[in-house]
Amino acid sequence: MTENFKRTLITSALPYANGPIHIGHLAGVYIPADIYARYLRLRGEEVLFIGGSDEHGVPITIKARKEGLTPQDIVNRYHKIIKKSFEEFGITFDIYSRTSSEIHHRTAADFFYKLYNKGEFIEKTSEQYYDEESHQFLADRYITGKCPHCGNENAYGDQCEACGTSLSPLELINPKSSISGSVPVMKETRHWYLPLDRHEEWLRNWILEKHKEWKPNVYGQCKSWLDMGLQPRAVSRDLDWGVPVPVKGAEGKVLYVWFDAPIGYISNTIEICKKQPEKYGDWTKWWKNSDTKLIHFIGKDNIVFHCIVFPAMLKADGTYILPENVPANEFLNLEGDKISTSRNWAVWLHEYLEDFPGKQDILRYVLTANAPETKDNDFTWKDFQARNNNELVAVLGNFVNRAMVLTHKYFEGKIPERAELSDYDIAVTKEFCDLKRNLETNLSHFHFRDALKEAMNMARTGNKYLADTEPWKLAKTDLQRTATVLNIAMQITTNLAIAFEPFLPFSSKKMKNIINKQDLRWSDLGSIDLLNAGHTLNQPELLFEKIEDETIEHQIRKLLNTKKINDTKISTAKPIKEDIDFDAFSRLDIRVGKVIACDKVPKADKLLQLHIDDGLGGRTILSGIAAYYRPEELVGKNVCFVANLAPRTIRGIVSEGMILSAEKSDGRLAVITPSLNVEPGSSVK
Ligand code: MF3
Ligand code: ZN
Repeated sequence: MTENFKRTLITSALPYANGPIHIGHLAGVYIPADIYARYLRLRGEEVLFIGGSDEHGVPITIKARKEGLTPQDIVNRYHKIIKKSFEEFGITFDIYSRTSSEIHHRTAADFFYKLYNKGEFIEKTSEQYYDEESHQFLADRYITGKCPHCGNENAYGDQCEACGTSLSPLELINPKSSISGSVPVMKETRHWYLPLDRHEEWLRNWILEKHKEWKPNVYGQCKSWLDMGLQPRAVSRDLDWGVPVPVKGAEGKVLYVWFDAPIGYISNTIEICKKQPEKYGDWTKWWKNSDTKLIHFIGKDNIVFHCIVFPAMLKADGTYILPENVPANEFLNLEGDKISTSRNWAVWLHEYLEDFPGKQDILRYVLTANAPETKDNDFTWKDFQARNNNELVAVLGNFVNRAMVLTHKYFEGKIPERAELSDYDIAVTKEFCDLKRNLETNLSHFHFRDALKEAMNMARTGNKYLADTEPWKLAKTDLQRTATVLNIAMQITTNLAIAFEPFLPFSSKKMKNIINKQDLRWSDLGSIDLLNAGHTLNQPELLFEKIEDETIEHQIRKLLNTKKINDTKISTAKPIKEDIDFDAFSRLDIRVGKVIACDKVPKADKLLQLHIDDGLGGRTILSGIAAYYRPEELVGKNVCFVANLAPRTIRGIVSEGMILSAEKSDGRLAVITPSLNVEPGSSVK
């Protein structure tokens, strides 16, 4: 890697704004990116650190539909929650913006339009499922049907969640639109494709030859993609949520979320440079100047988009720089299981802070010490406790506290004058310089775990220094030597405040407060002349405290409860209602009736109006099953209904009874029918 760079542009994957964030996000992307940004800033380098919410894509529209809200409502809710979590954990974005913003829409549309005019896309027509009732093309997720592999009736058009197989909607048996419930038809649609095959050659050379230093997991994934051969990729979708495709005849089409989201890095840069031009300068300096080093921090599921697709987009434009490195992490598991939002198997950041207020640094520490840098890793609460108690408390906290307390005890909280250094003092100082070098090498190569280990080793060296020199004994016989030792111990403490700043910013700040010295830079690291003799310290304050078994057991129990809830979810049976006596039961008059006619109720999309032959002249019943049955499916069927329910008027129609349905675990209703053909009006007992 040639180091002719003048500034660093750091991006971190824009999280989808359809849920809060958890420890997996922090460990995989945001903590390493923040450590890197803080480190470079401490060195006095010019840095721009970009974050933001990814607010488009189909899952957001699905969530909105489920909750009866608009997609904008959903992203407004989660953007706020996510942004707050990042602030609370000290992630120092220069900007945290969002892709539903006007400036992003304009930037993404312009980006597309330029490539469109340059002839960088191909246009293709293909057939896709279309919902004729709701008049829209269906994203794969919006189609459900039977899985051809395992027979699950509720497989999605992109995946069967029962057996885990990836599917295409065409493989589903009896596909159904989950918007209207109707059977979708094939219809032609036109889309724009980025012909990645045209970019294959330079990508091969750029990654496989010129970037052999990329992490093996990243390099390996790129190589296997390239070896399989690249195909054109659609960059537009038929959807009504996203950045509209800015060309004539593209009504109802938006940019594919993975096309617009990485452009979010650019639009967020433009936004912050416009807001604070004196601080950040012109945005083009960050994106179009080859002396800018661009680094993307991401998780492993984003590798192809950041190493192949986005670079191809940038190259197709022709005026942008390409990433210098993409230090993607693997995944973090939780107590041996994959983190899962839908199963609620996660440690959510906002919940962590409720249980551990003010203890951000412990989590930052544990997630860095245990970061999934080279392989998937496991977060366990026991490890969390052990690292806190045995490392943060016993090593770092203990050293700083001893140095402070002793200096207060023997020298009234003032840095004592130093006499000549002993050979041992000199050896310790030298060791410090080595640690500094290792720390820097690791940080510049994105080896954050190892870097943190080096920083912790500095604290270990400090502890050993105190244990070897025993100033509490020395003070009885040789106050001058005690002065030298504590002077050095306090210089080490000051060094630790610098070394830990990128990793443990809250504790580093506390350390700077108690030693009463704020203006420290990275270049001060390794020096033993940071505090002058006579400098007054503030009162010592404990940096960390022991975490008791109870606290950890509580967290483990909380997780195990989630497991229990998940297990009962699999059985899905609800608790039984209170007992009733036989009399109460026999007052219910349940009957079988035959559906003679069935229609949708105008302006009530959940309701069907059924006309039932009840053997007594017929009656009308309304039922909330329109999402699950087409009216004609029910005509001729025998159904069960409560015949003596007092009539109710709904939407101006008198409903005389209630149709009985069974509720599936996903909420879908299945009308109950007798197993034999029986006469209309028969009692159900
Ligand atoms: N939202 C995506 C995810 O969470 C990441 C988008 S990164 C960007 O996987 F580059 F597209 F912004
Ligand atoms: Zn299946």
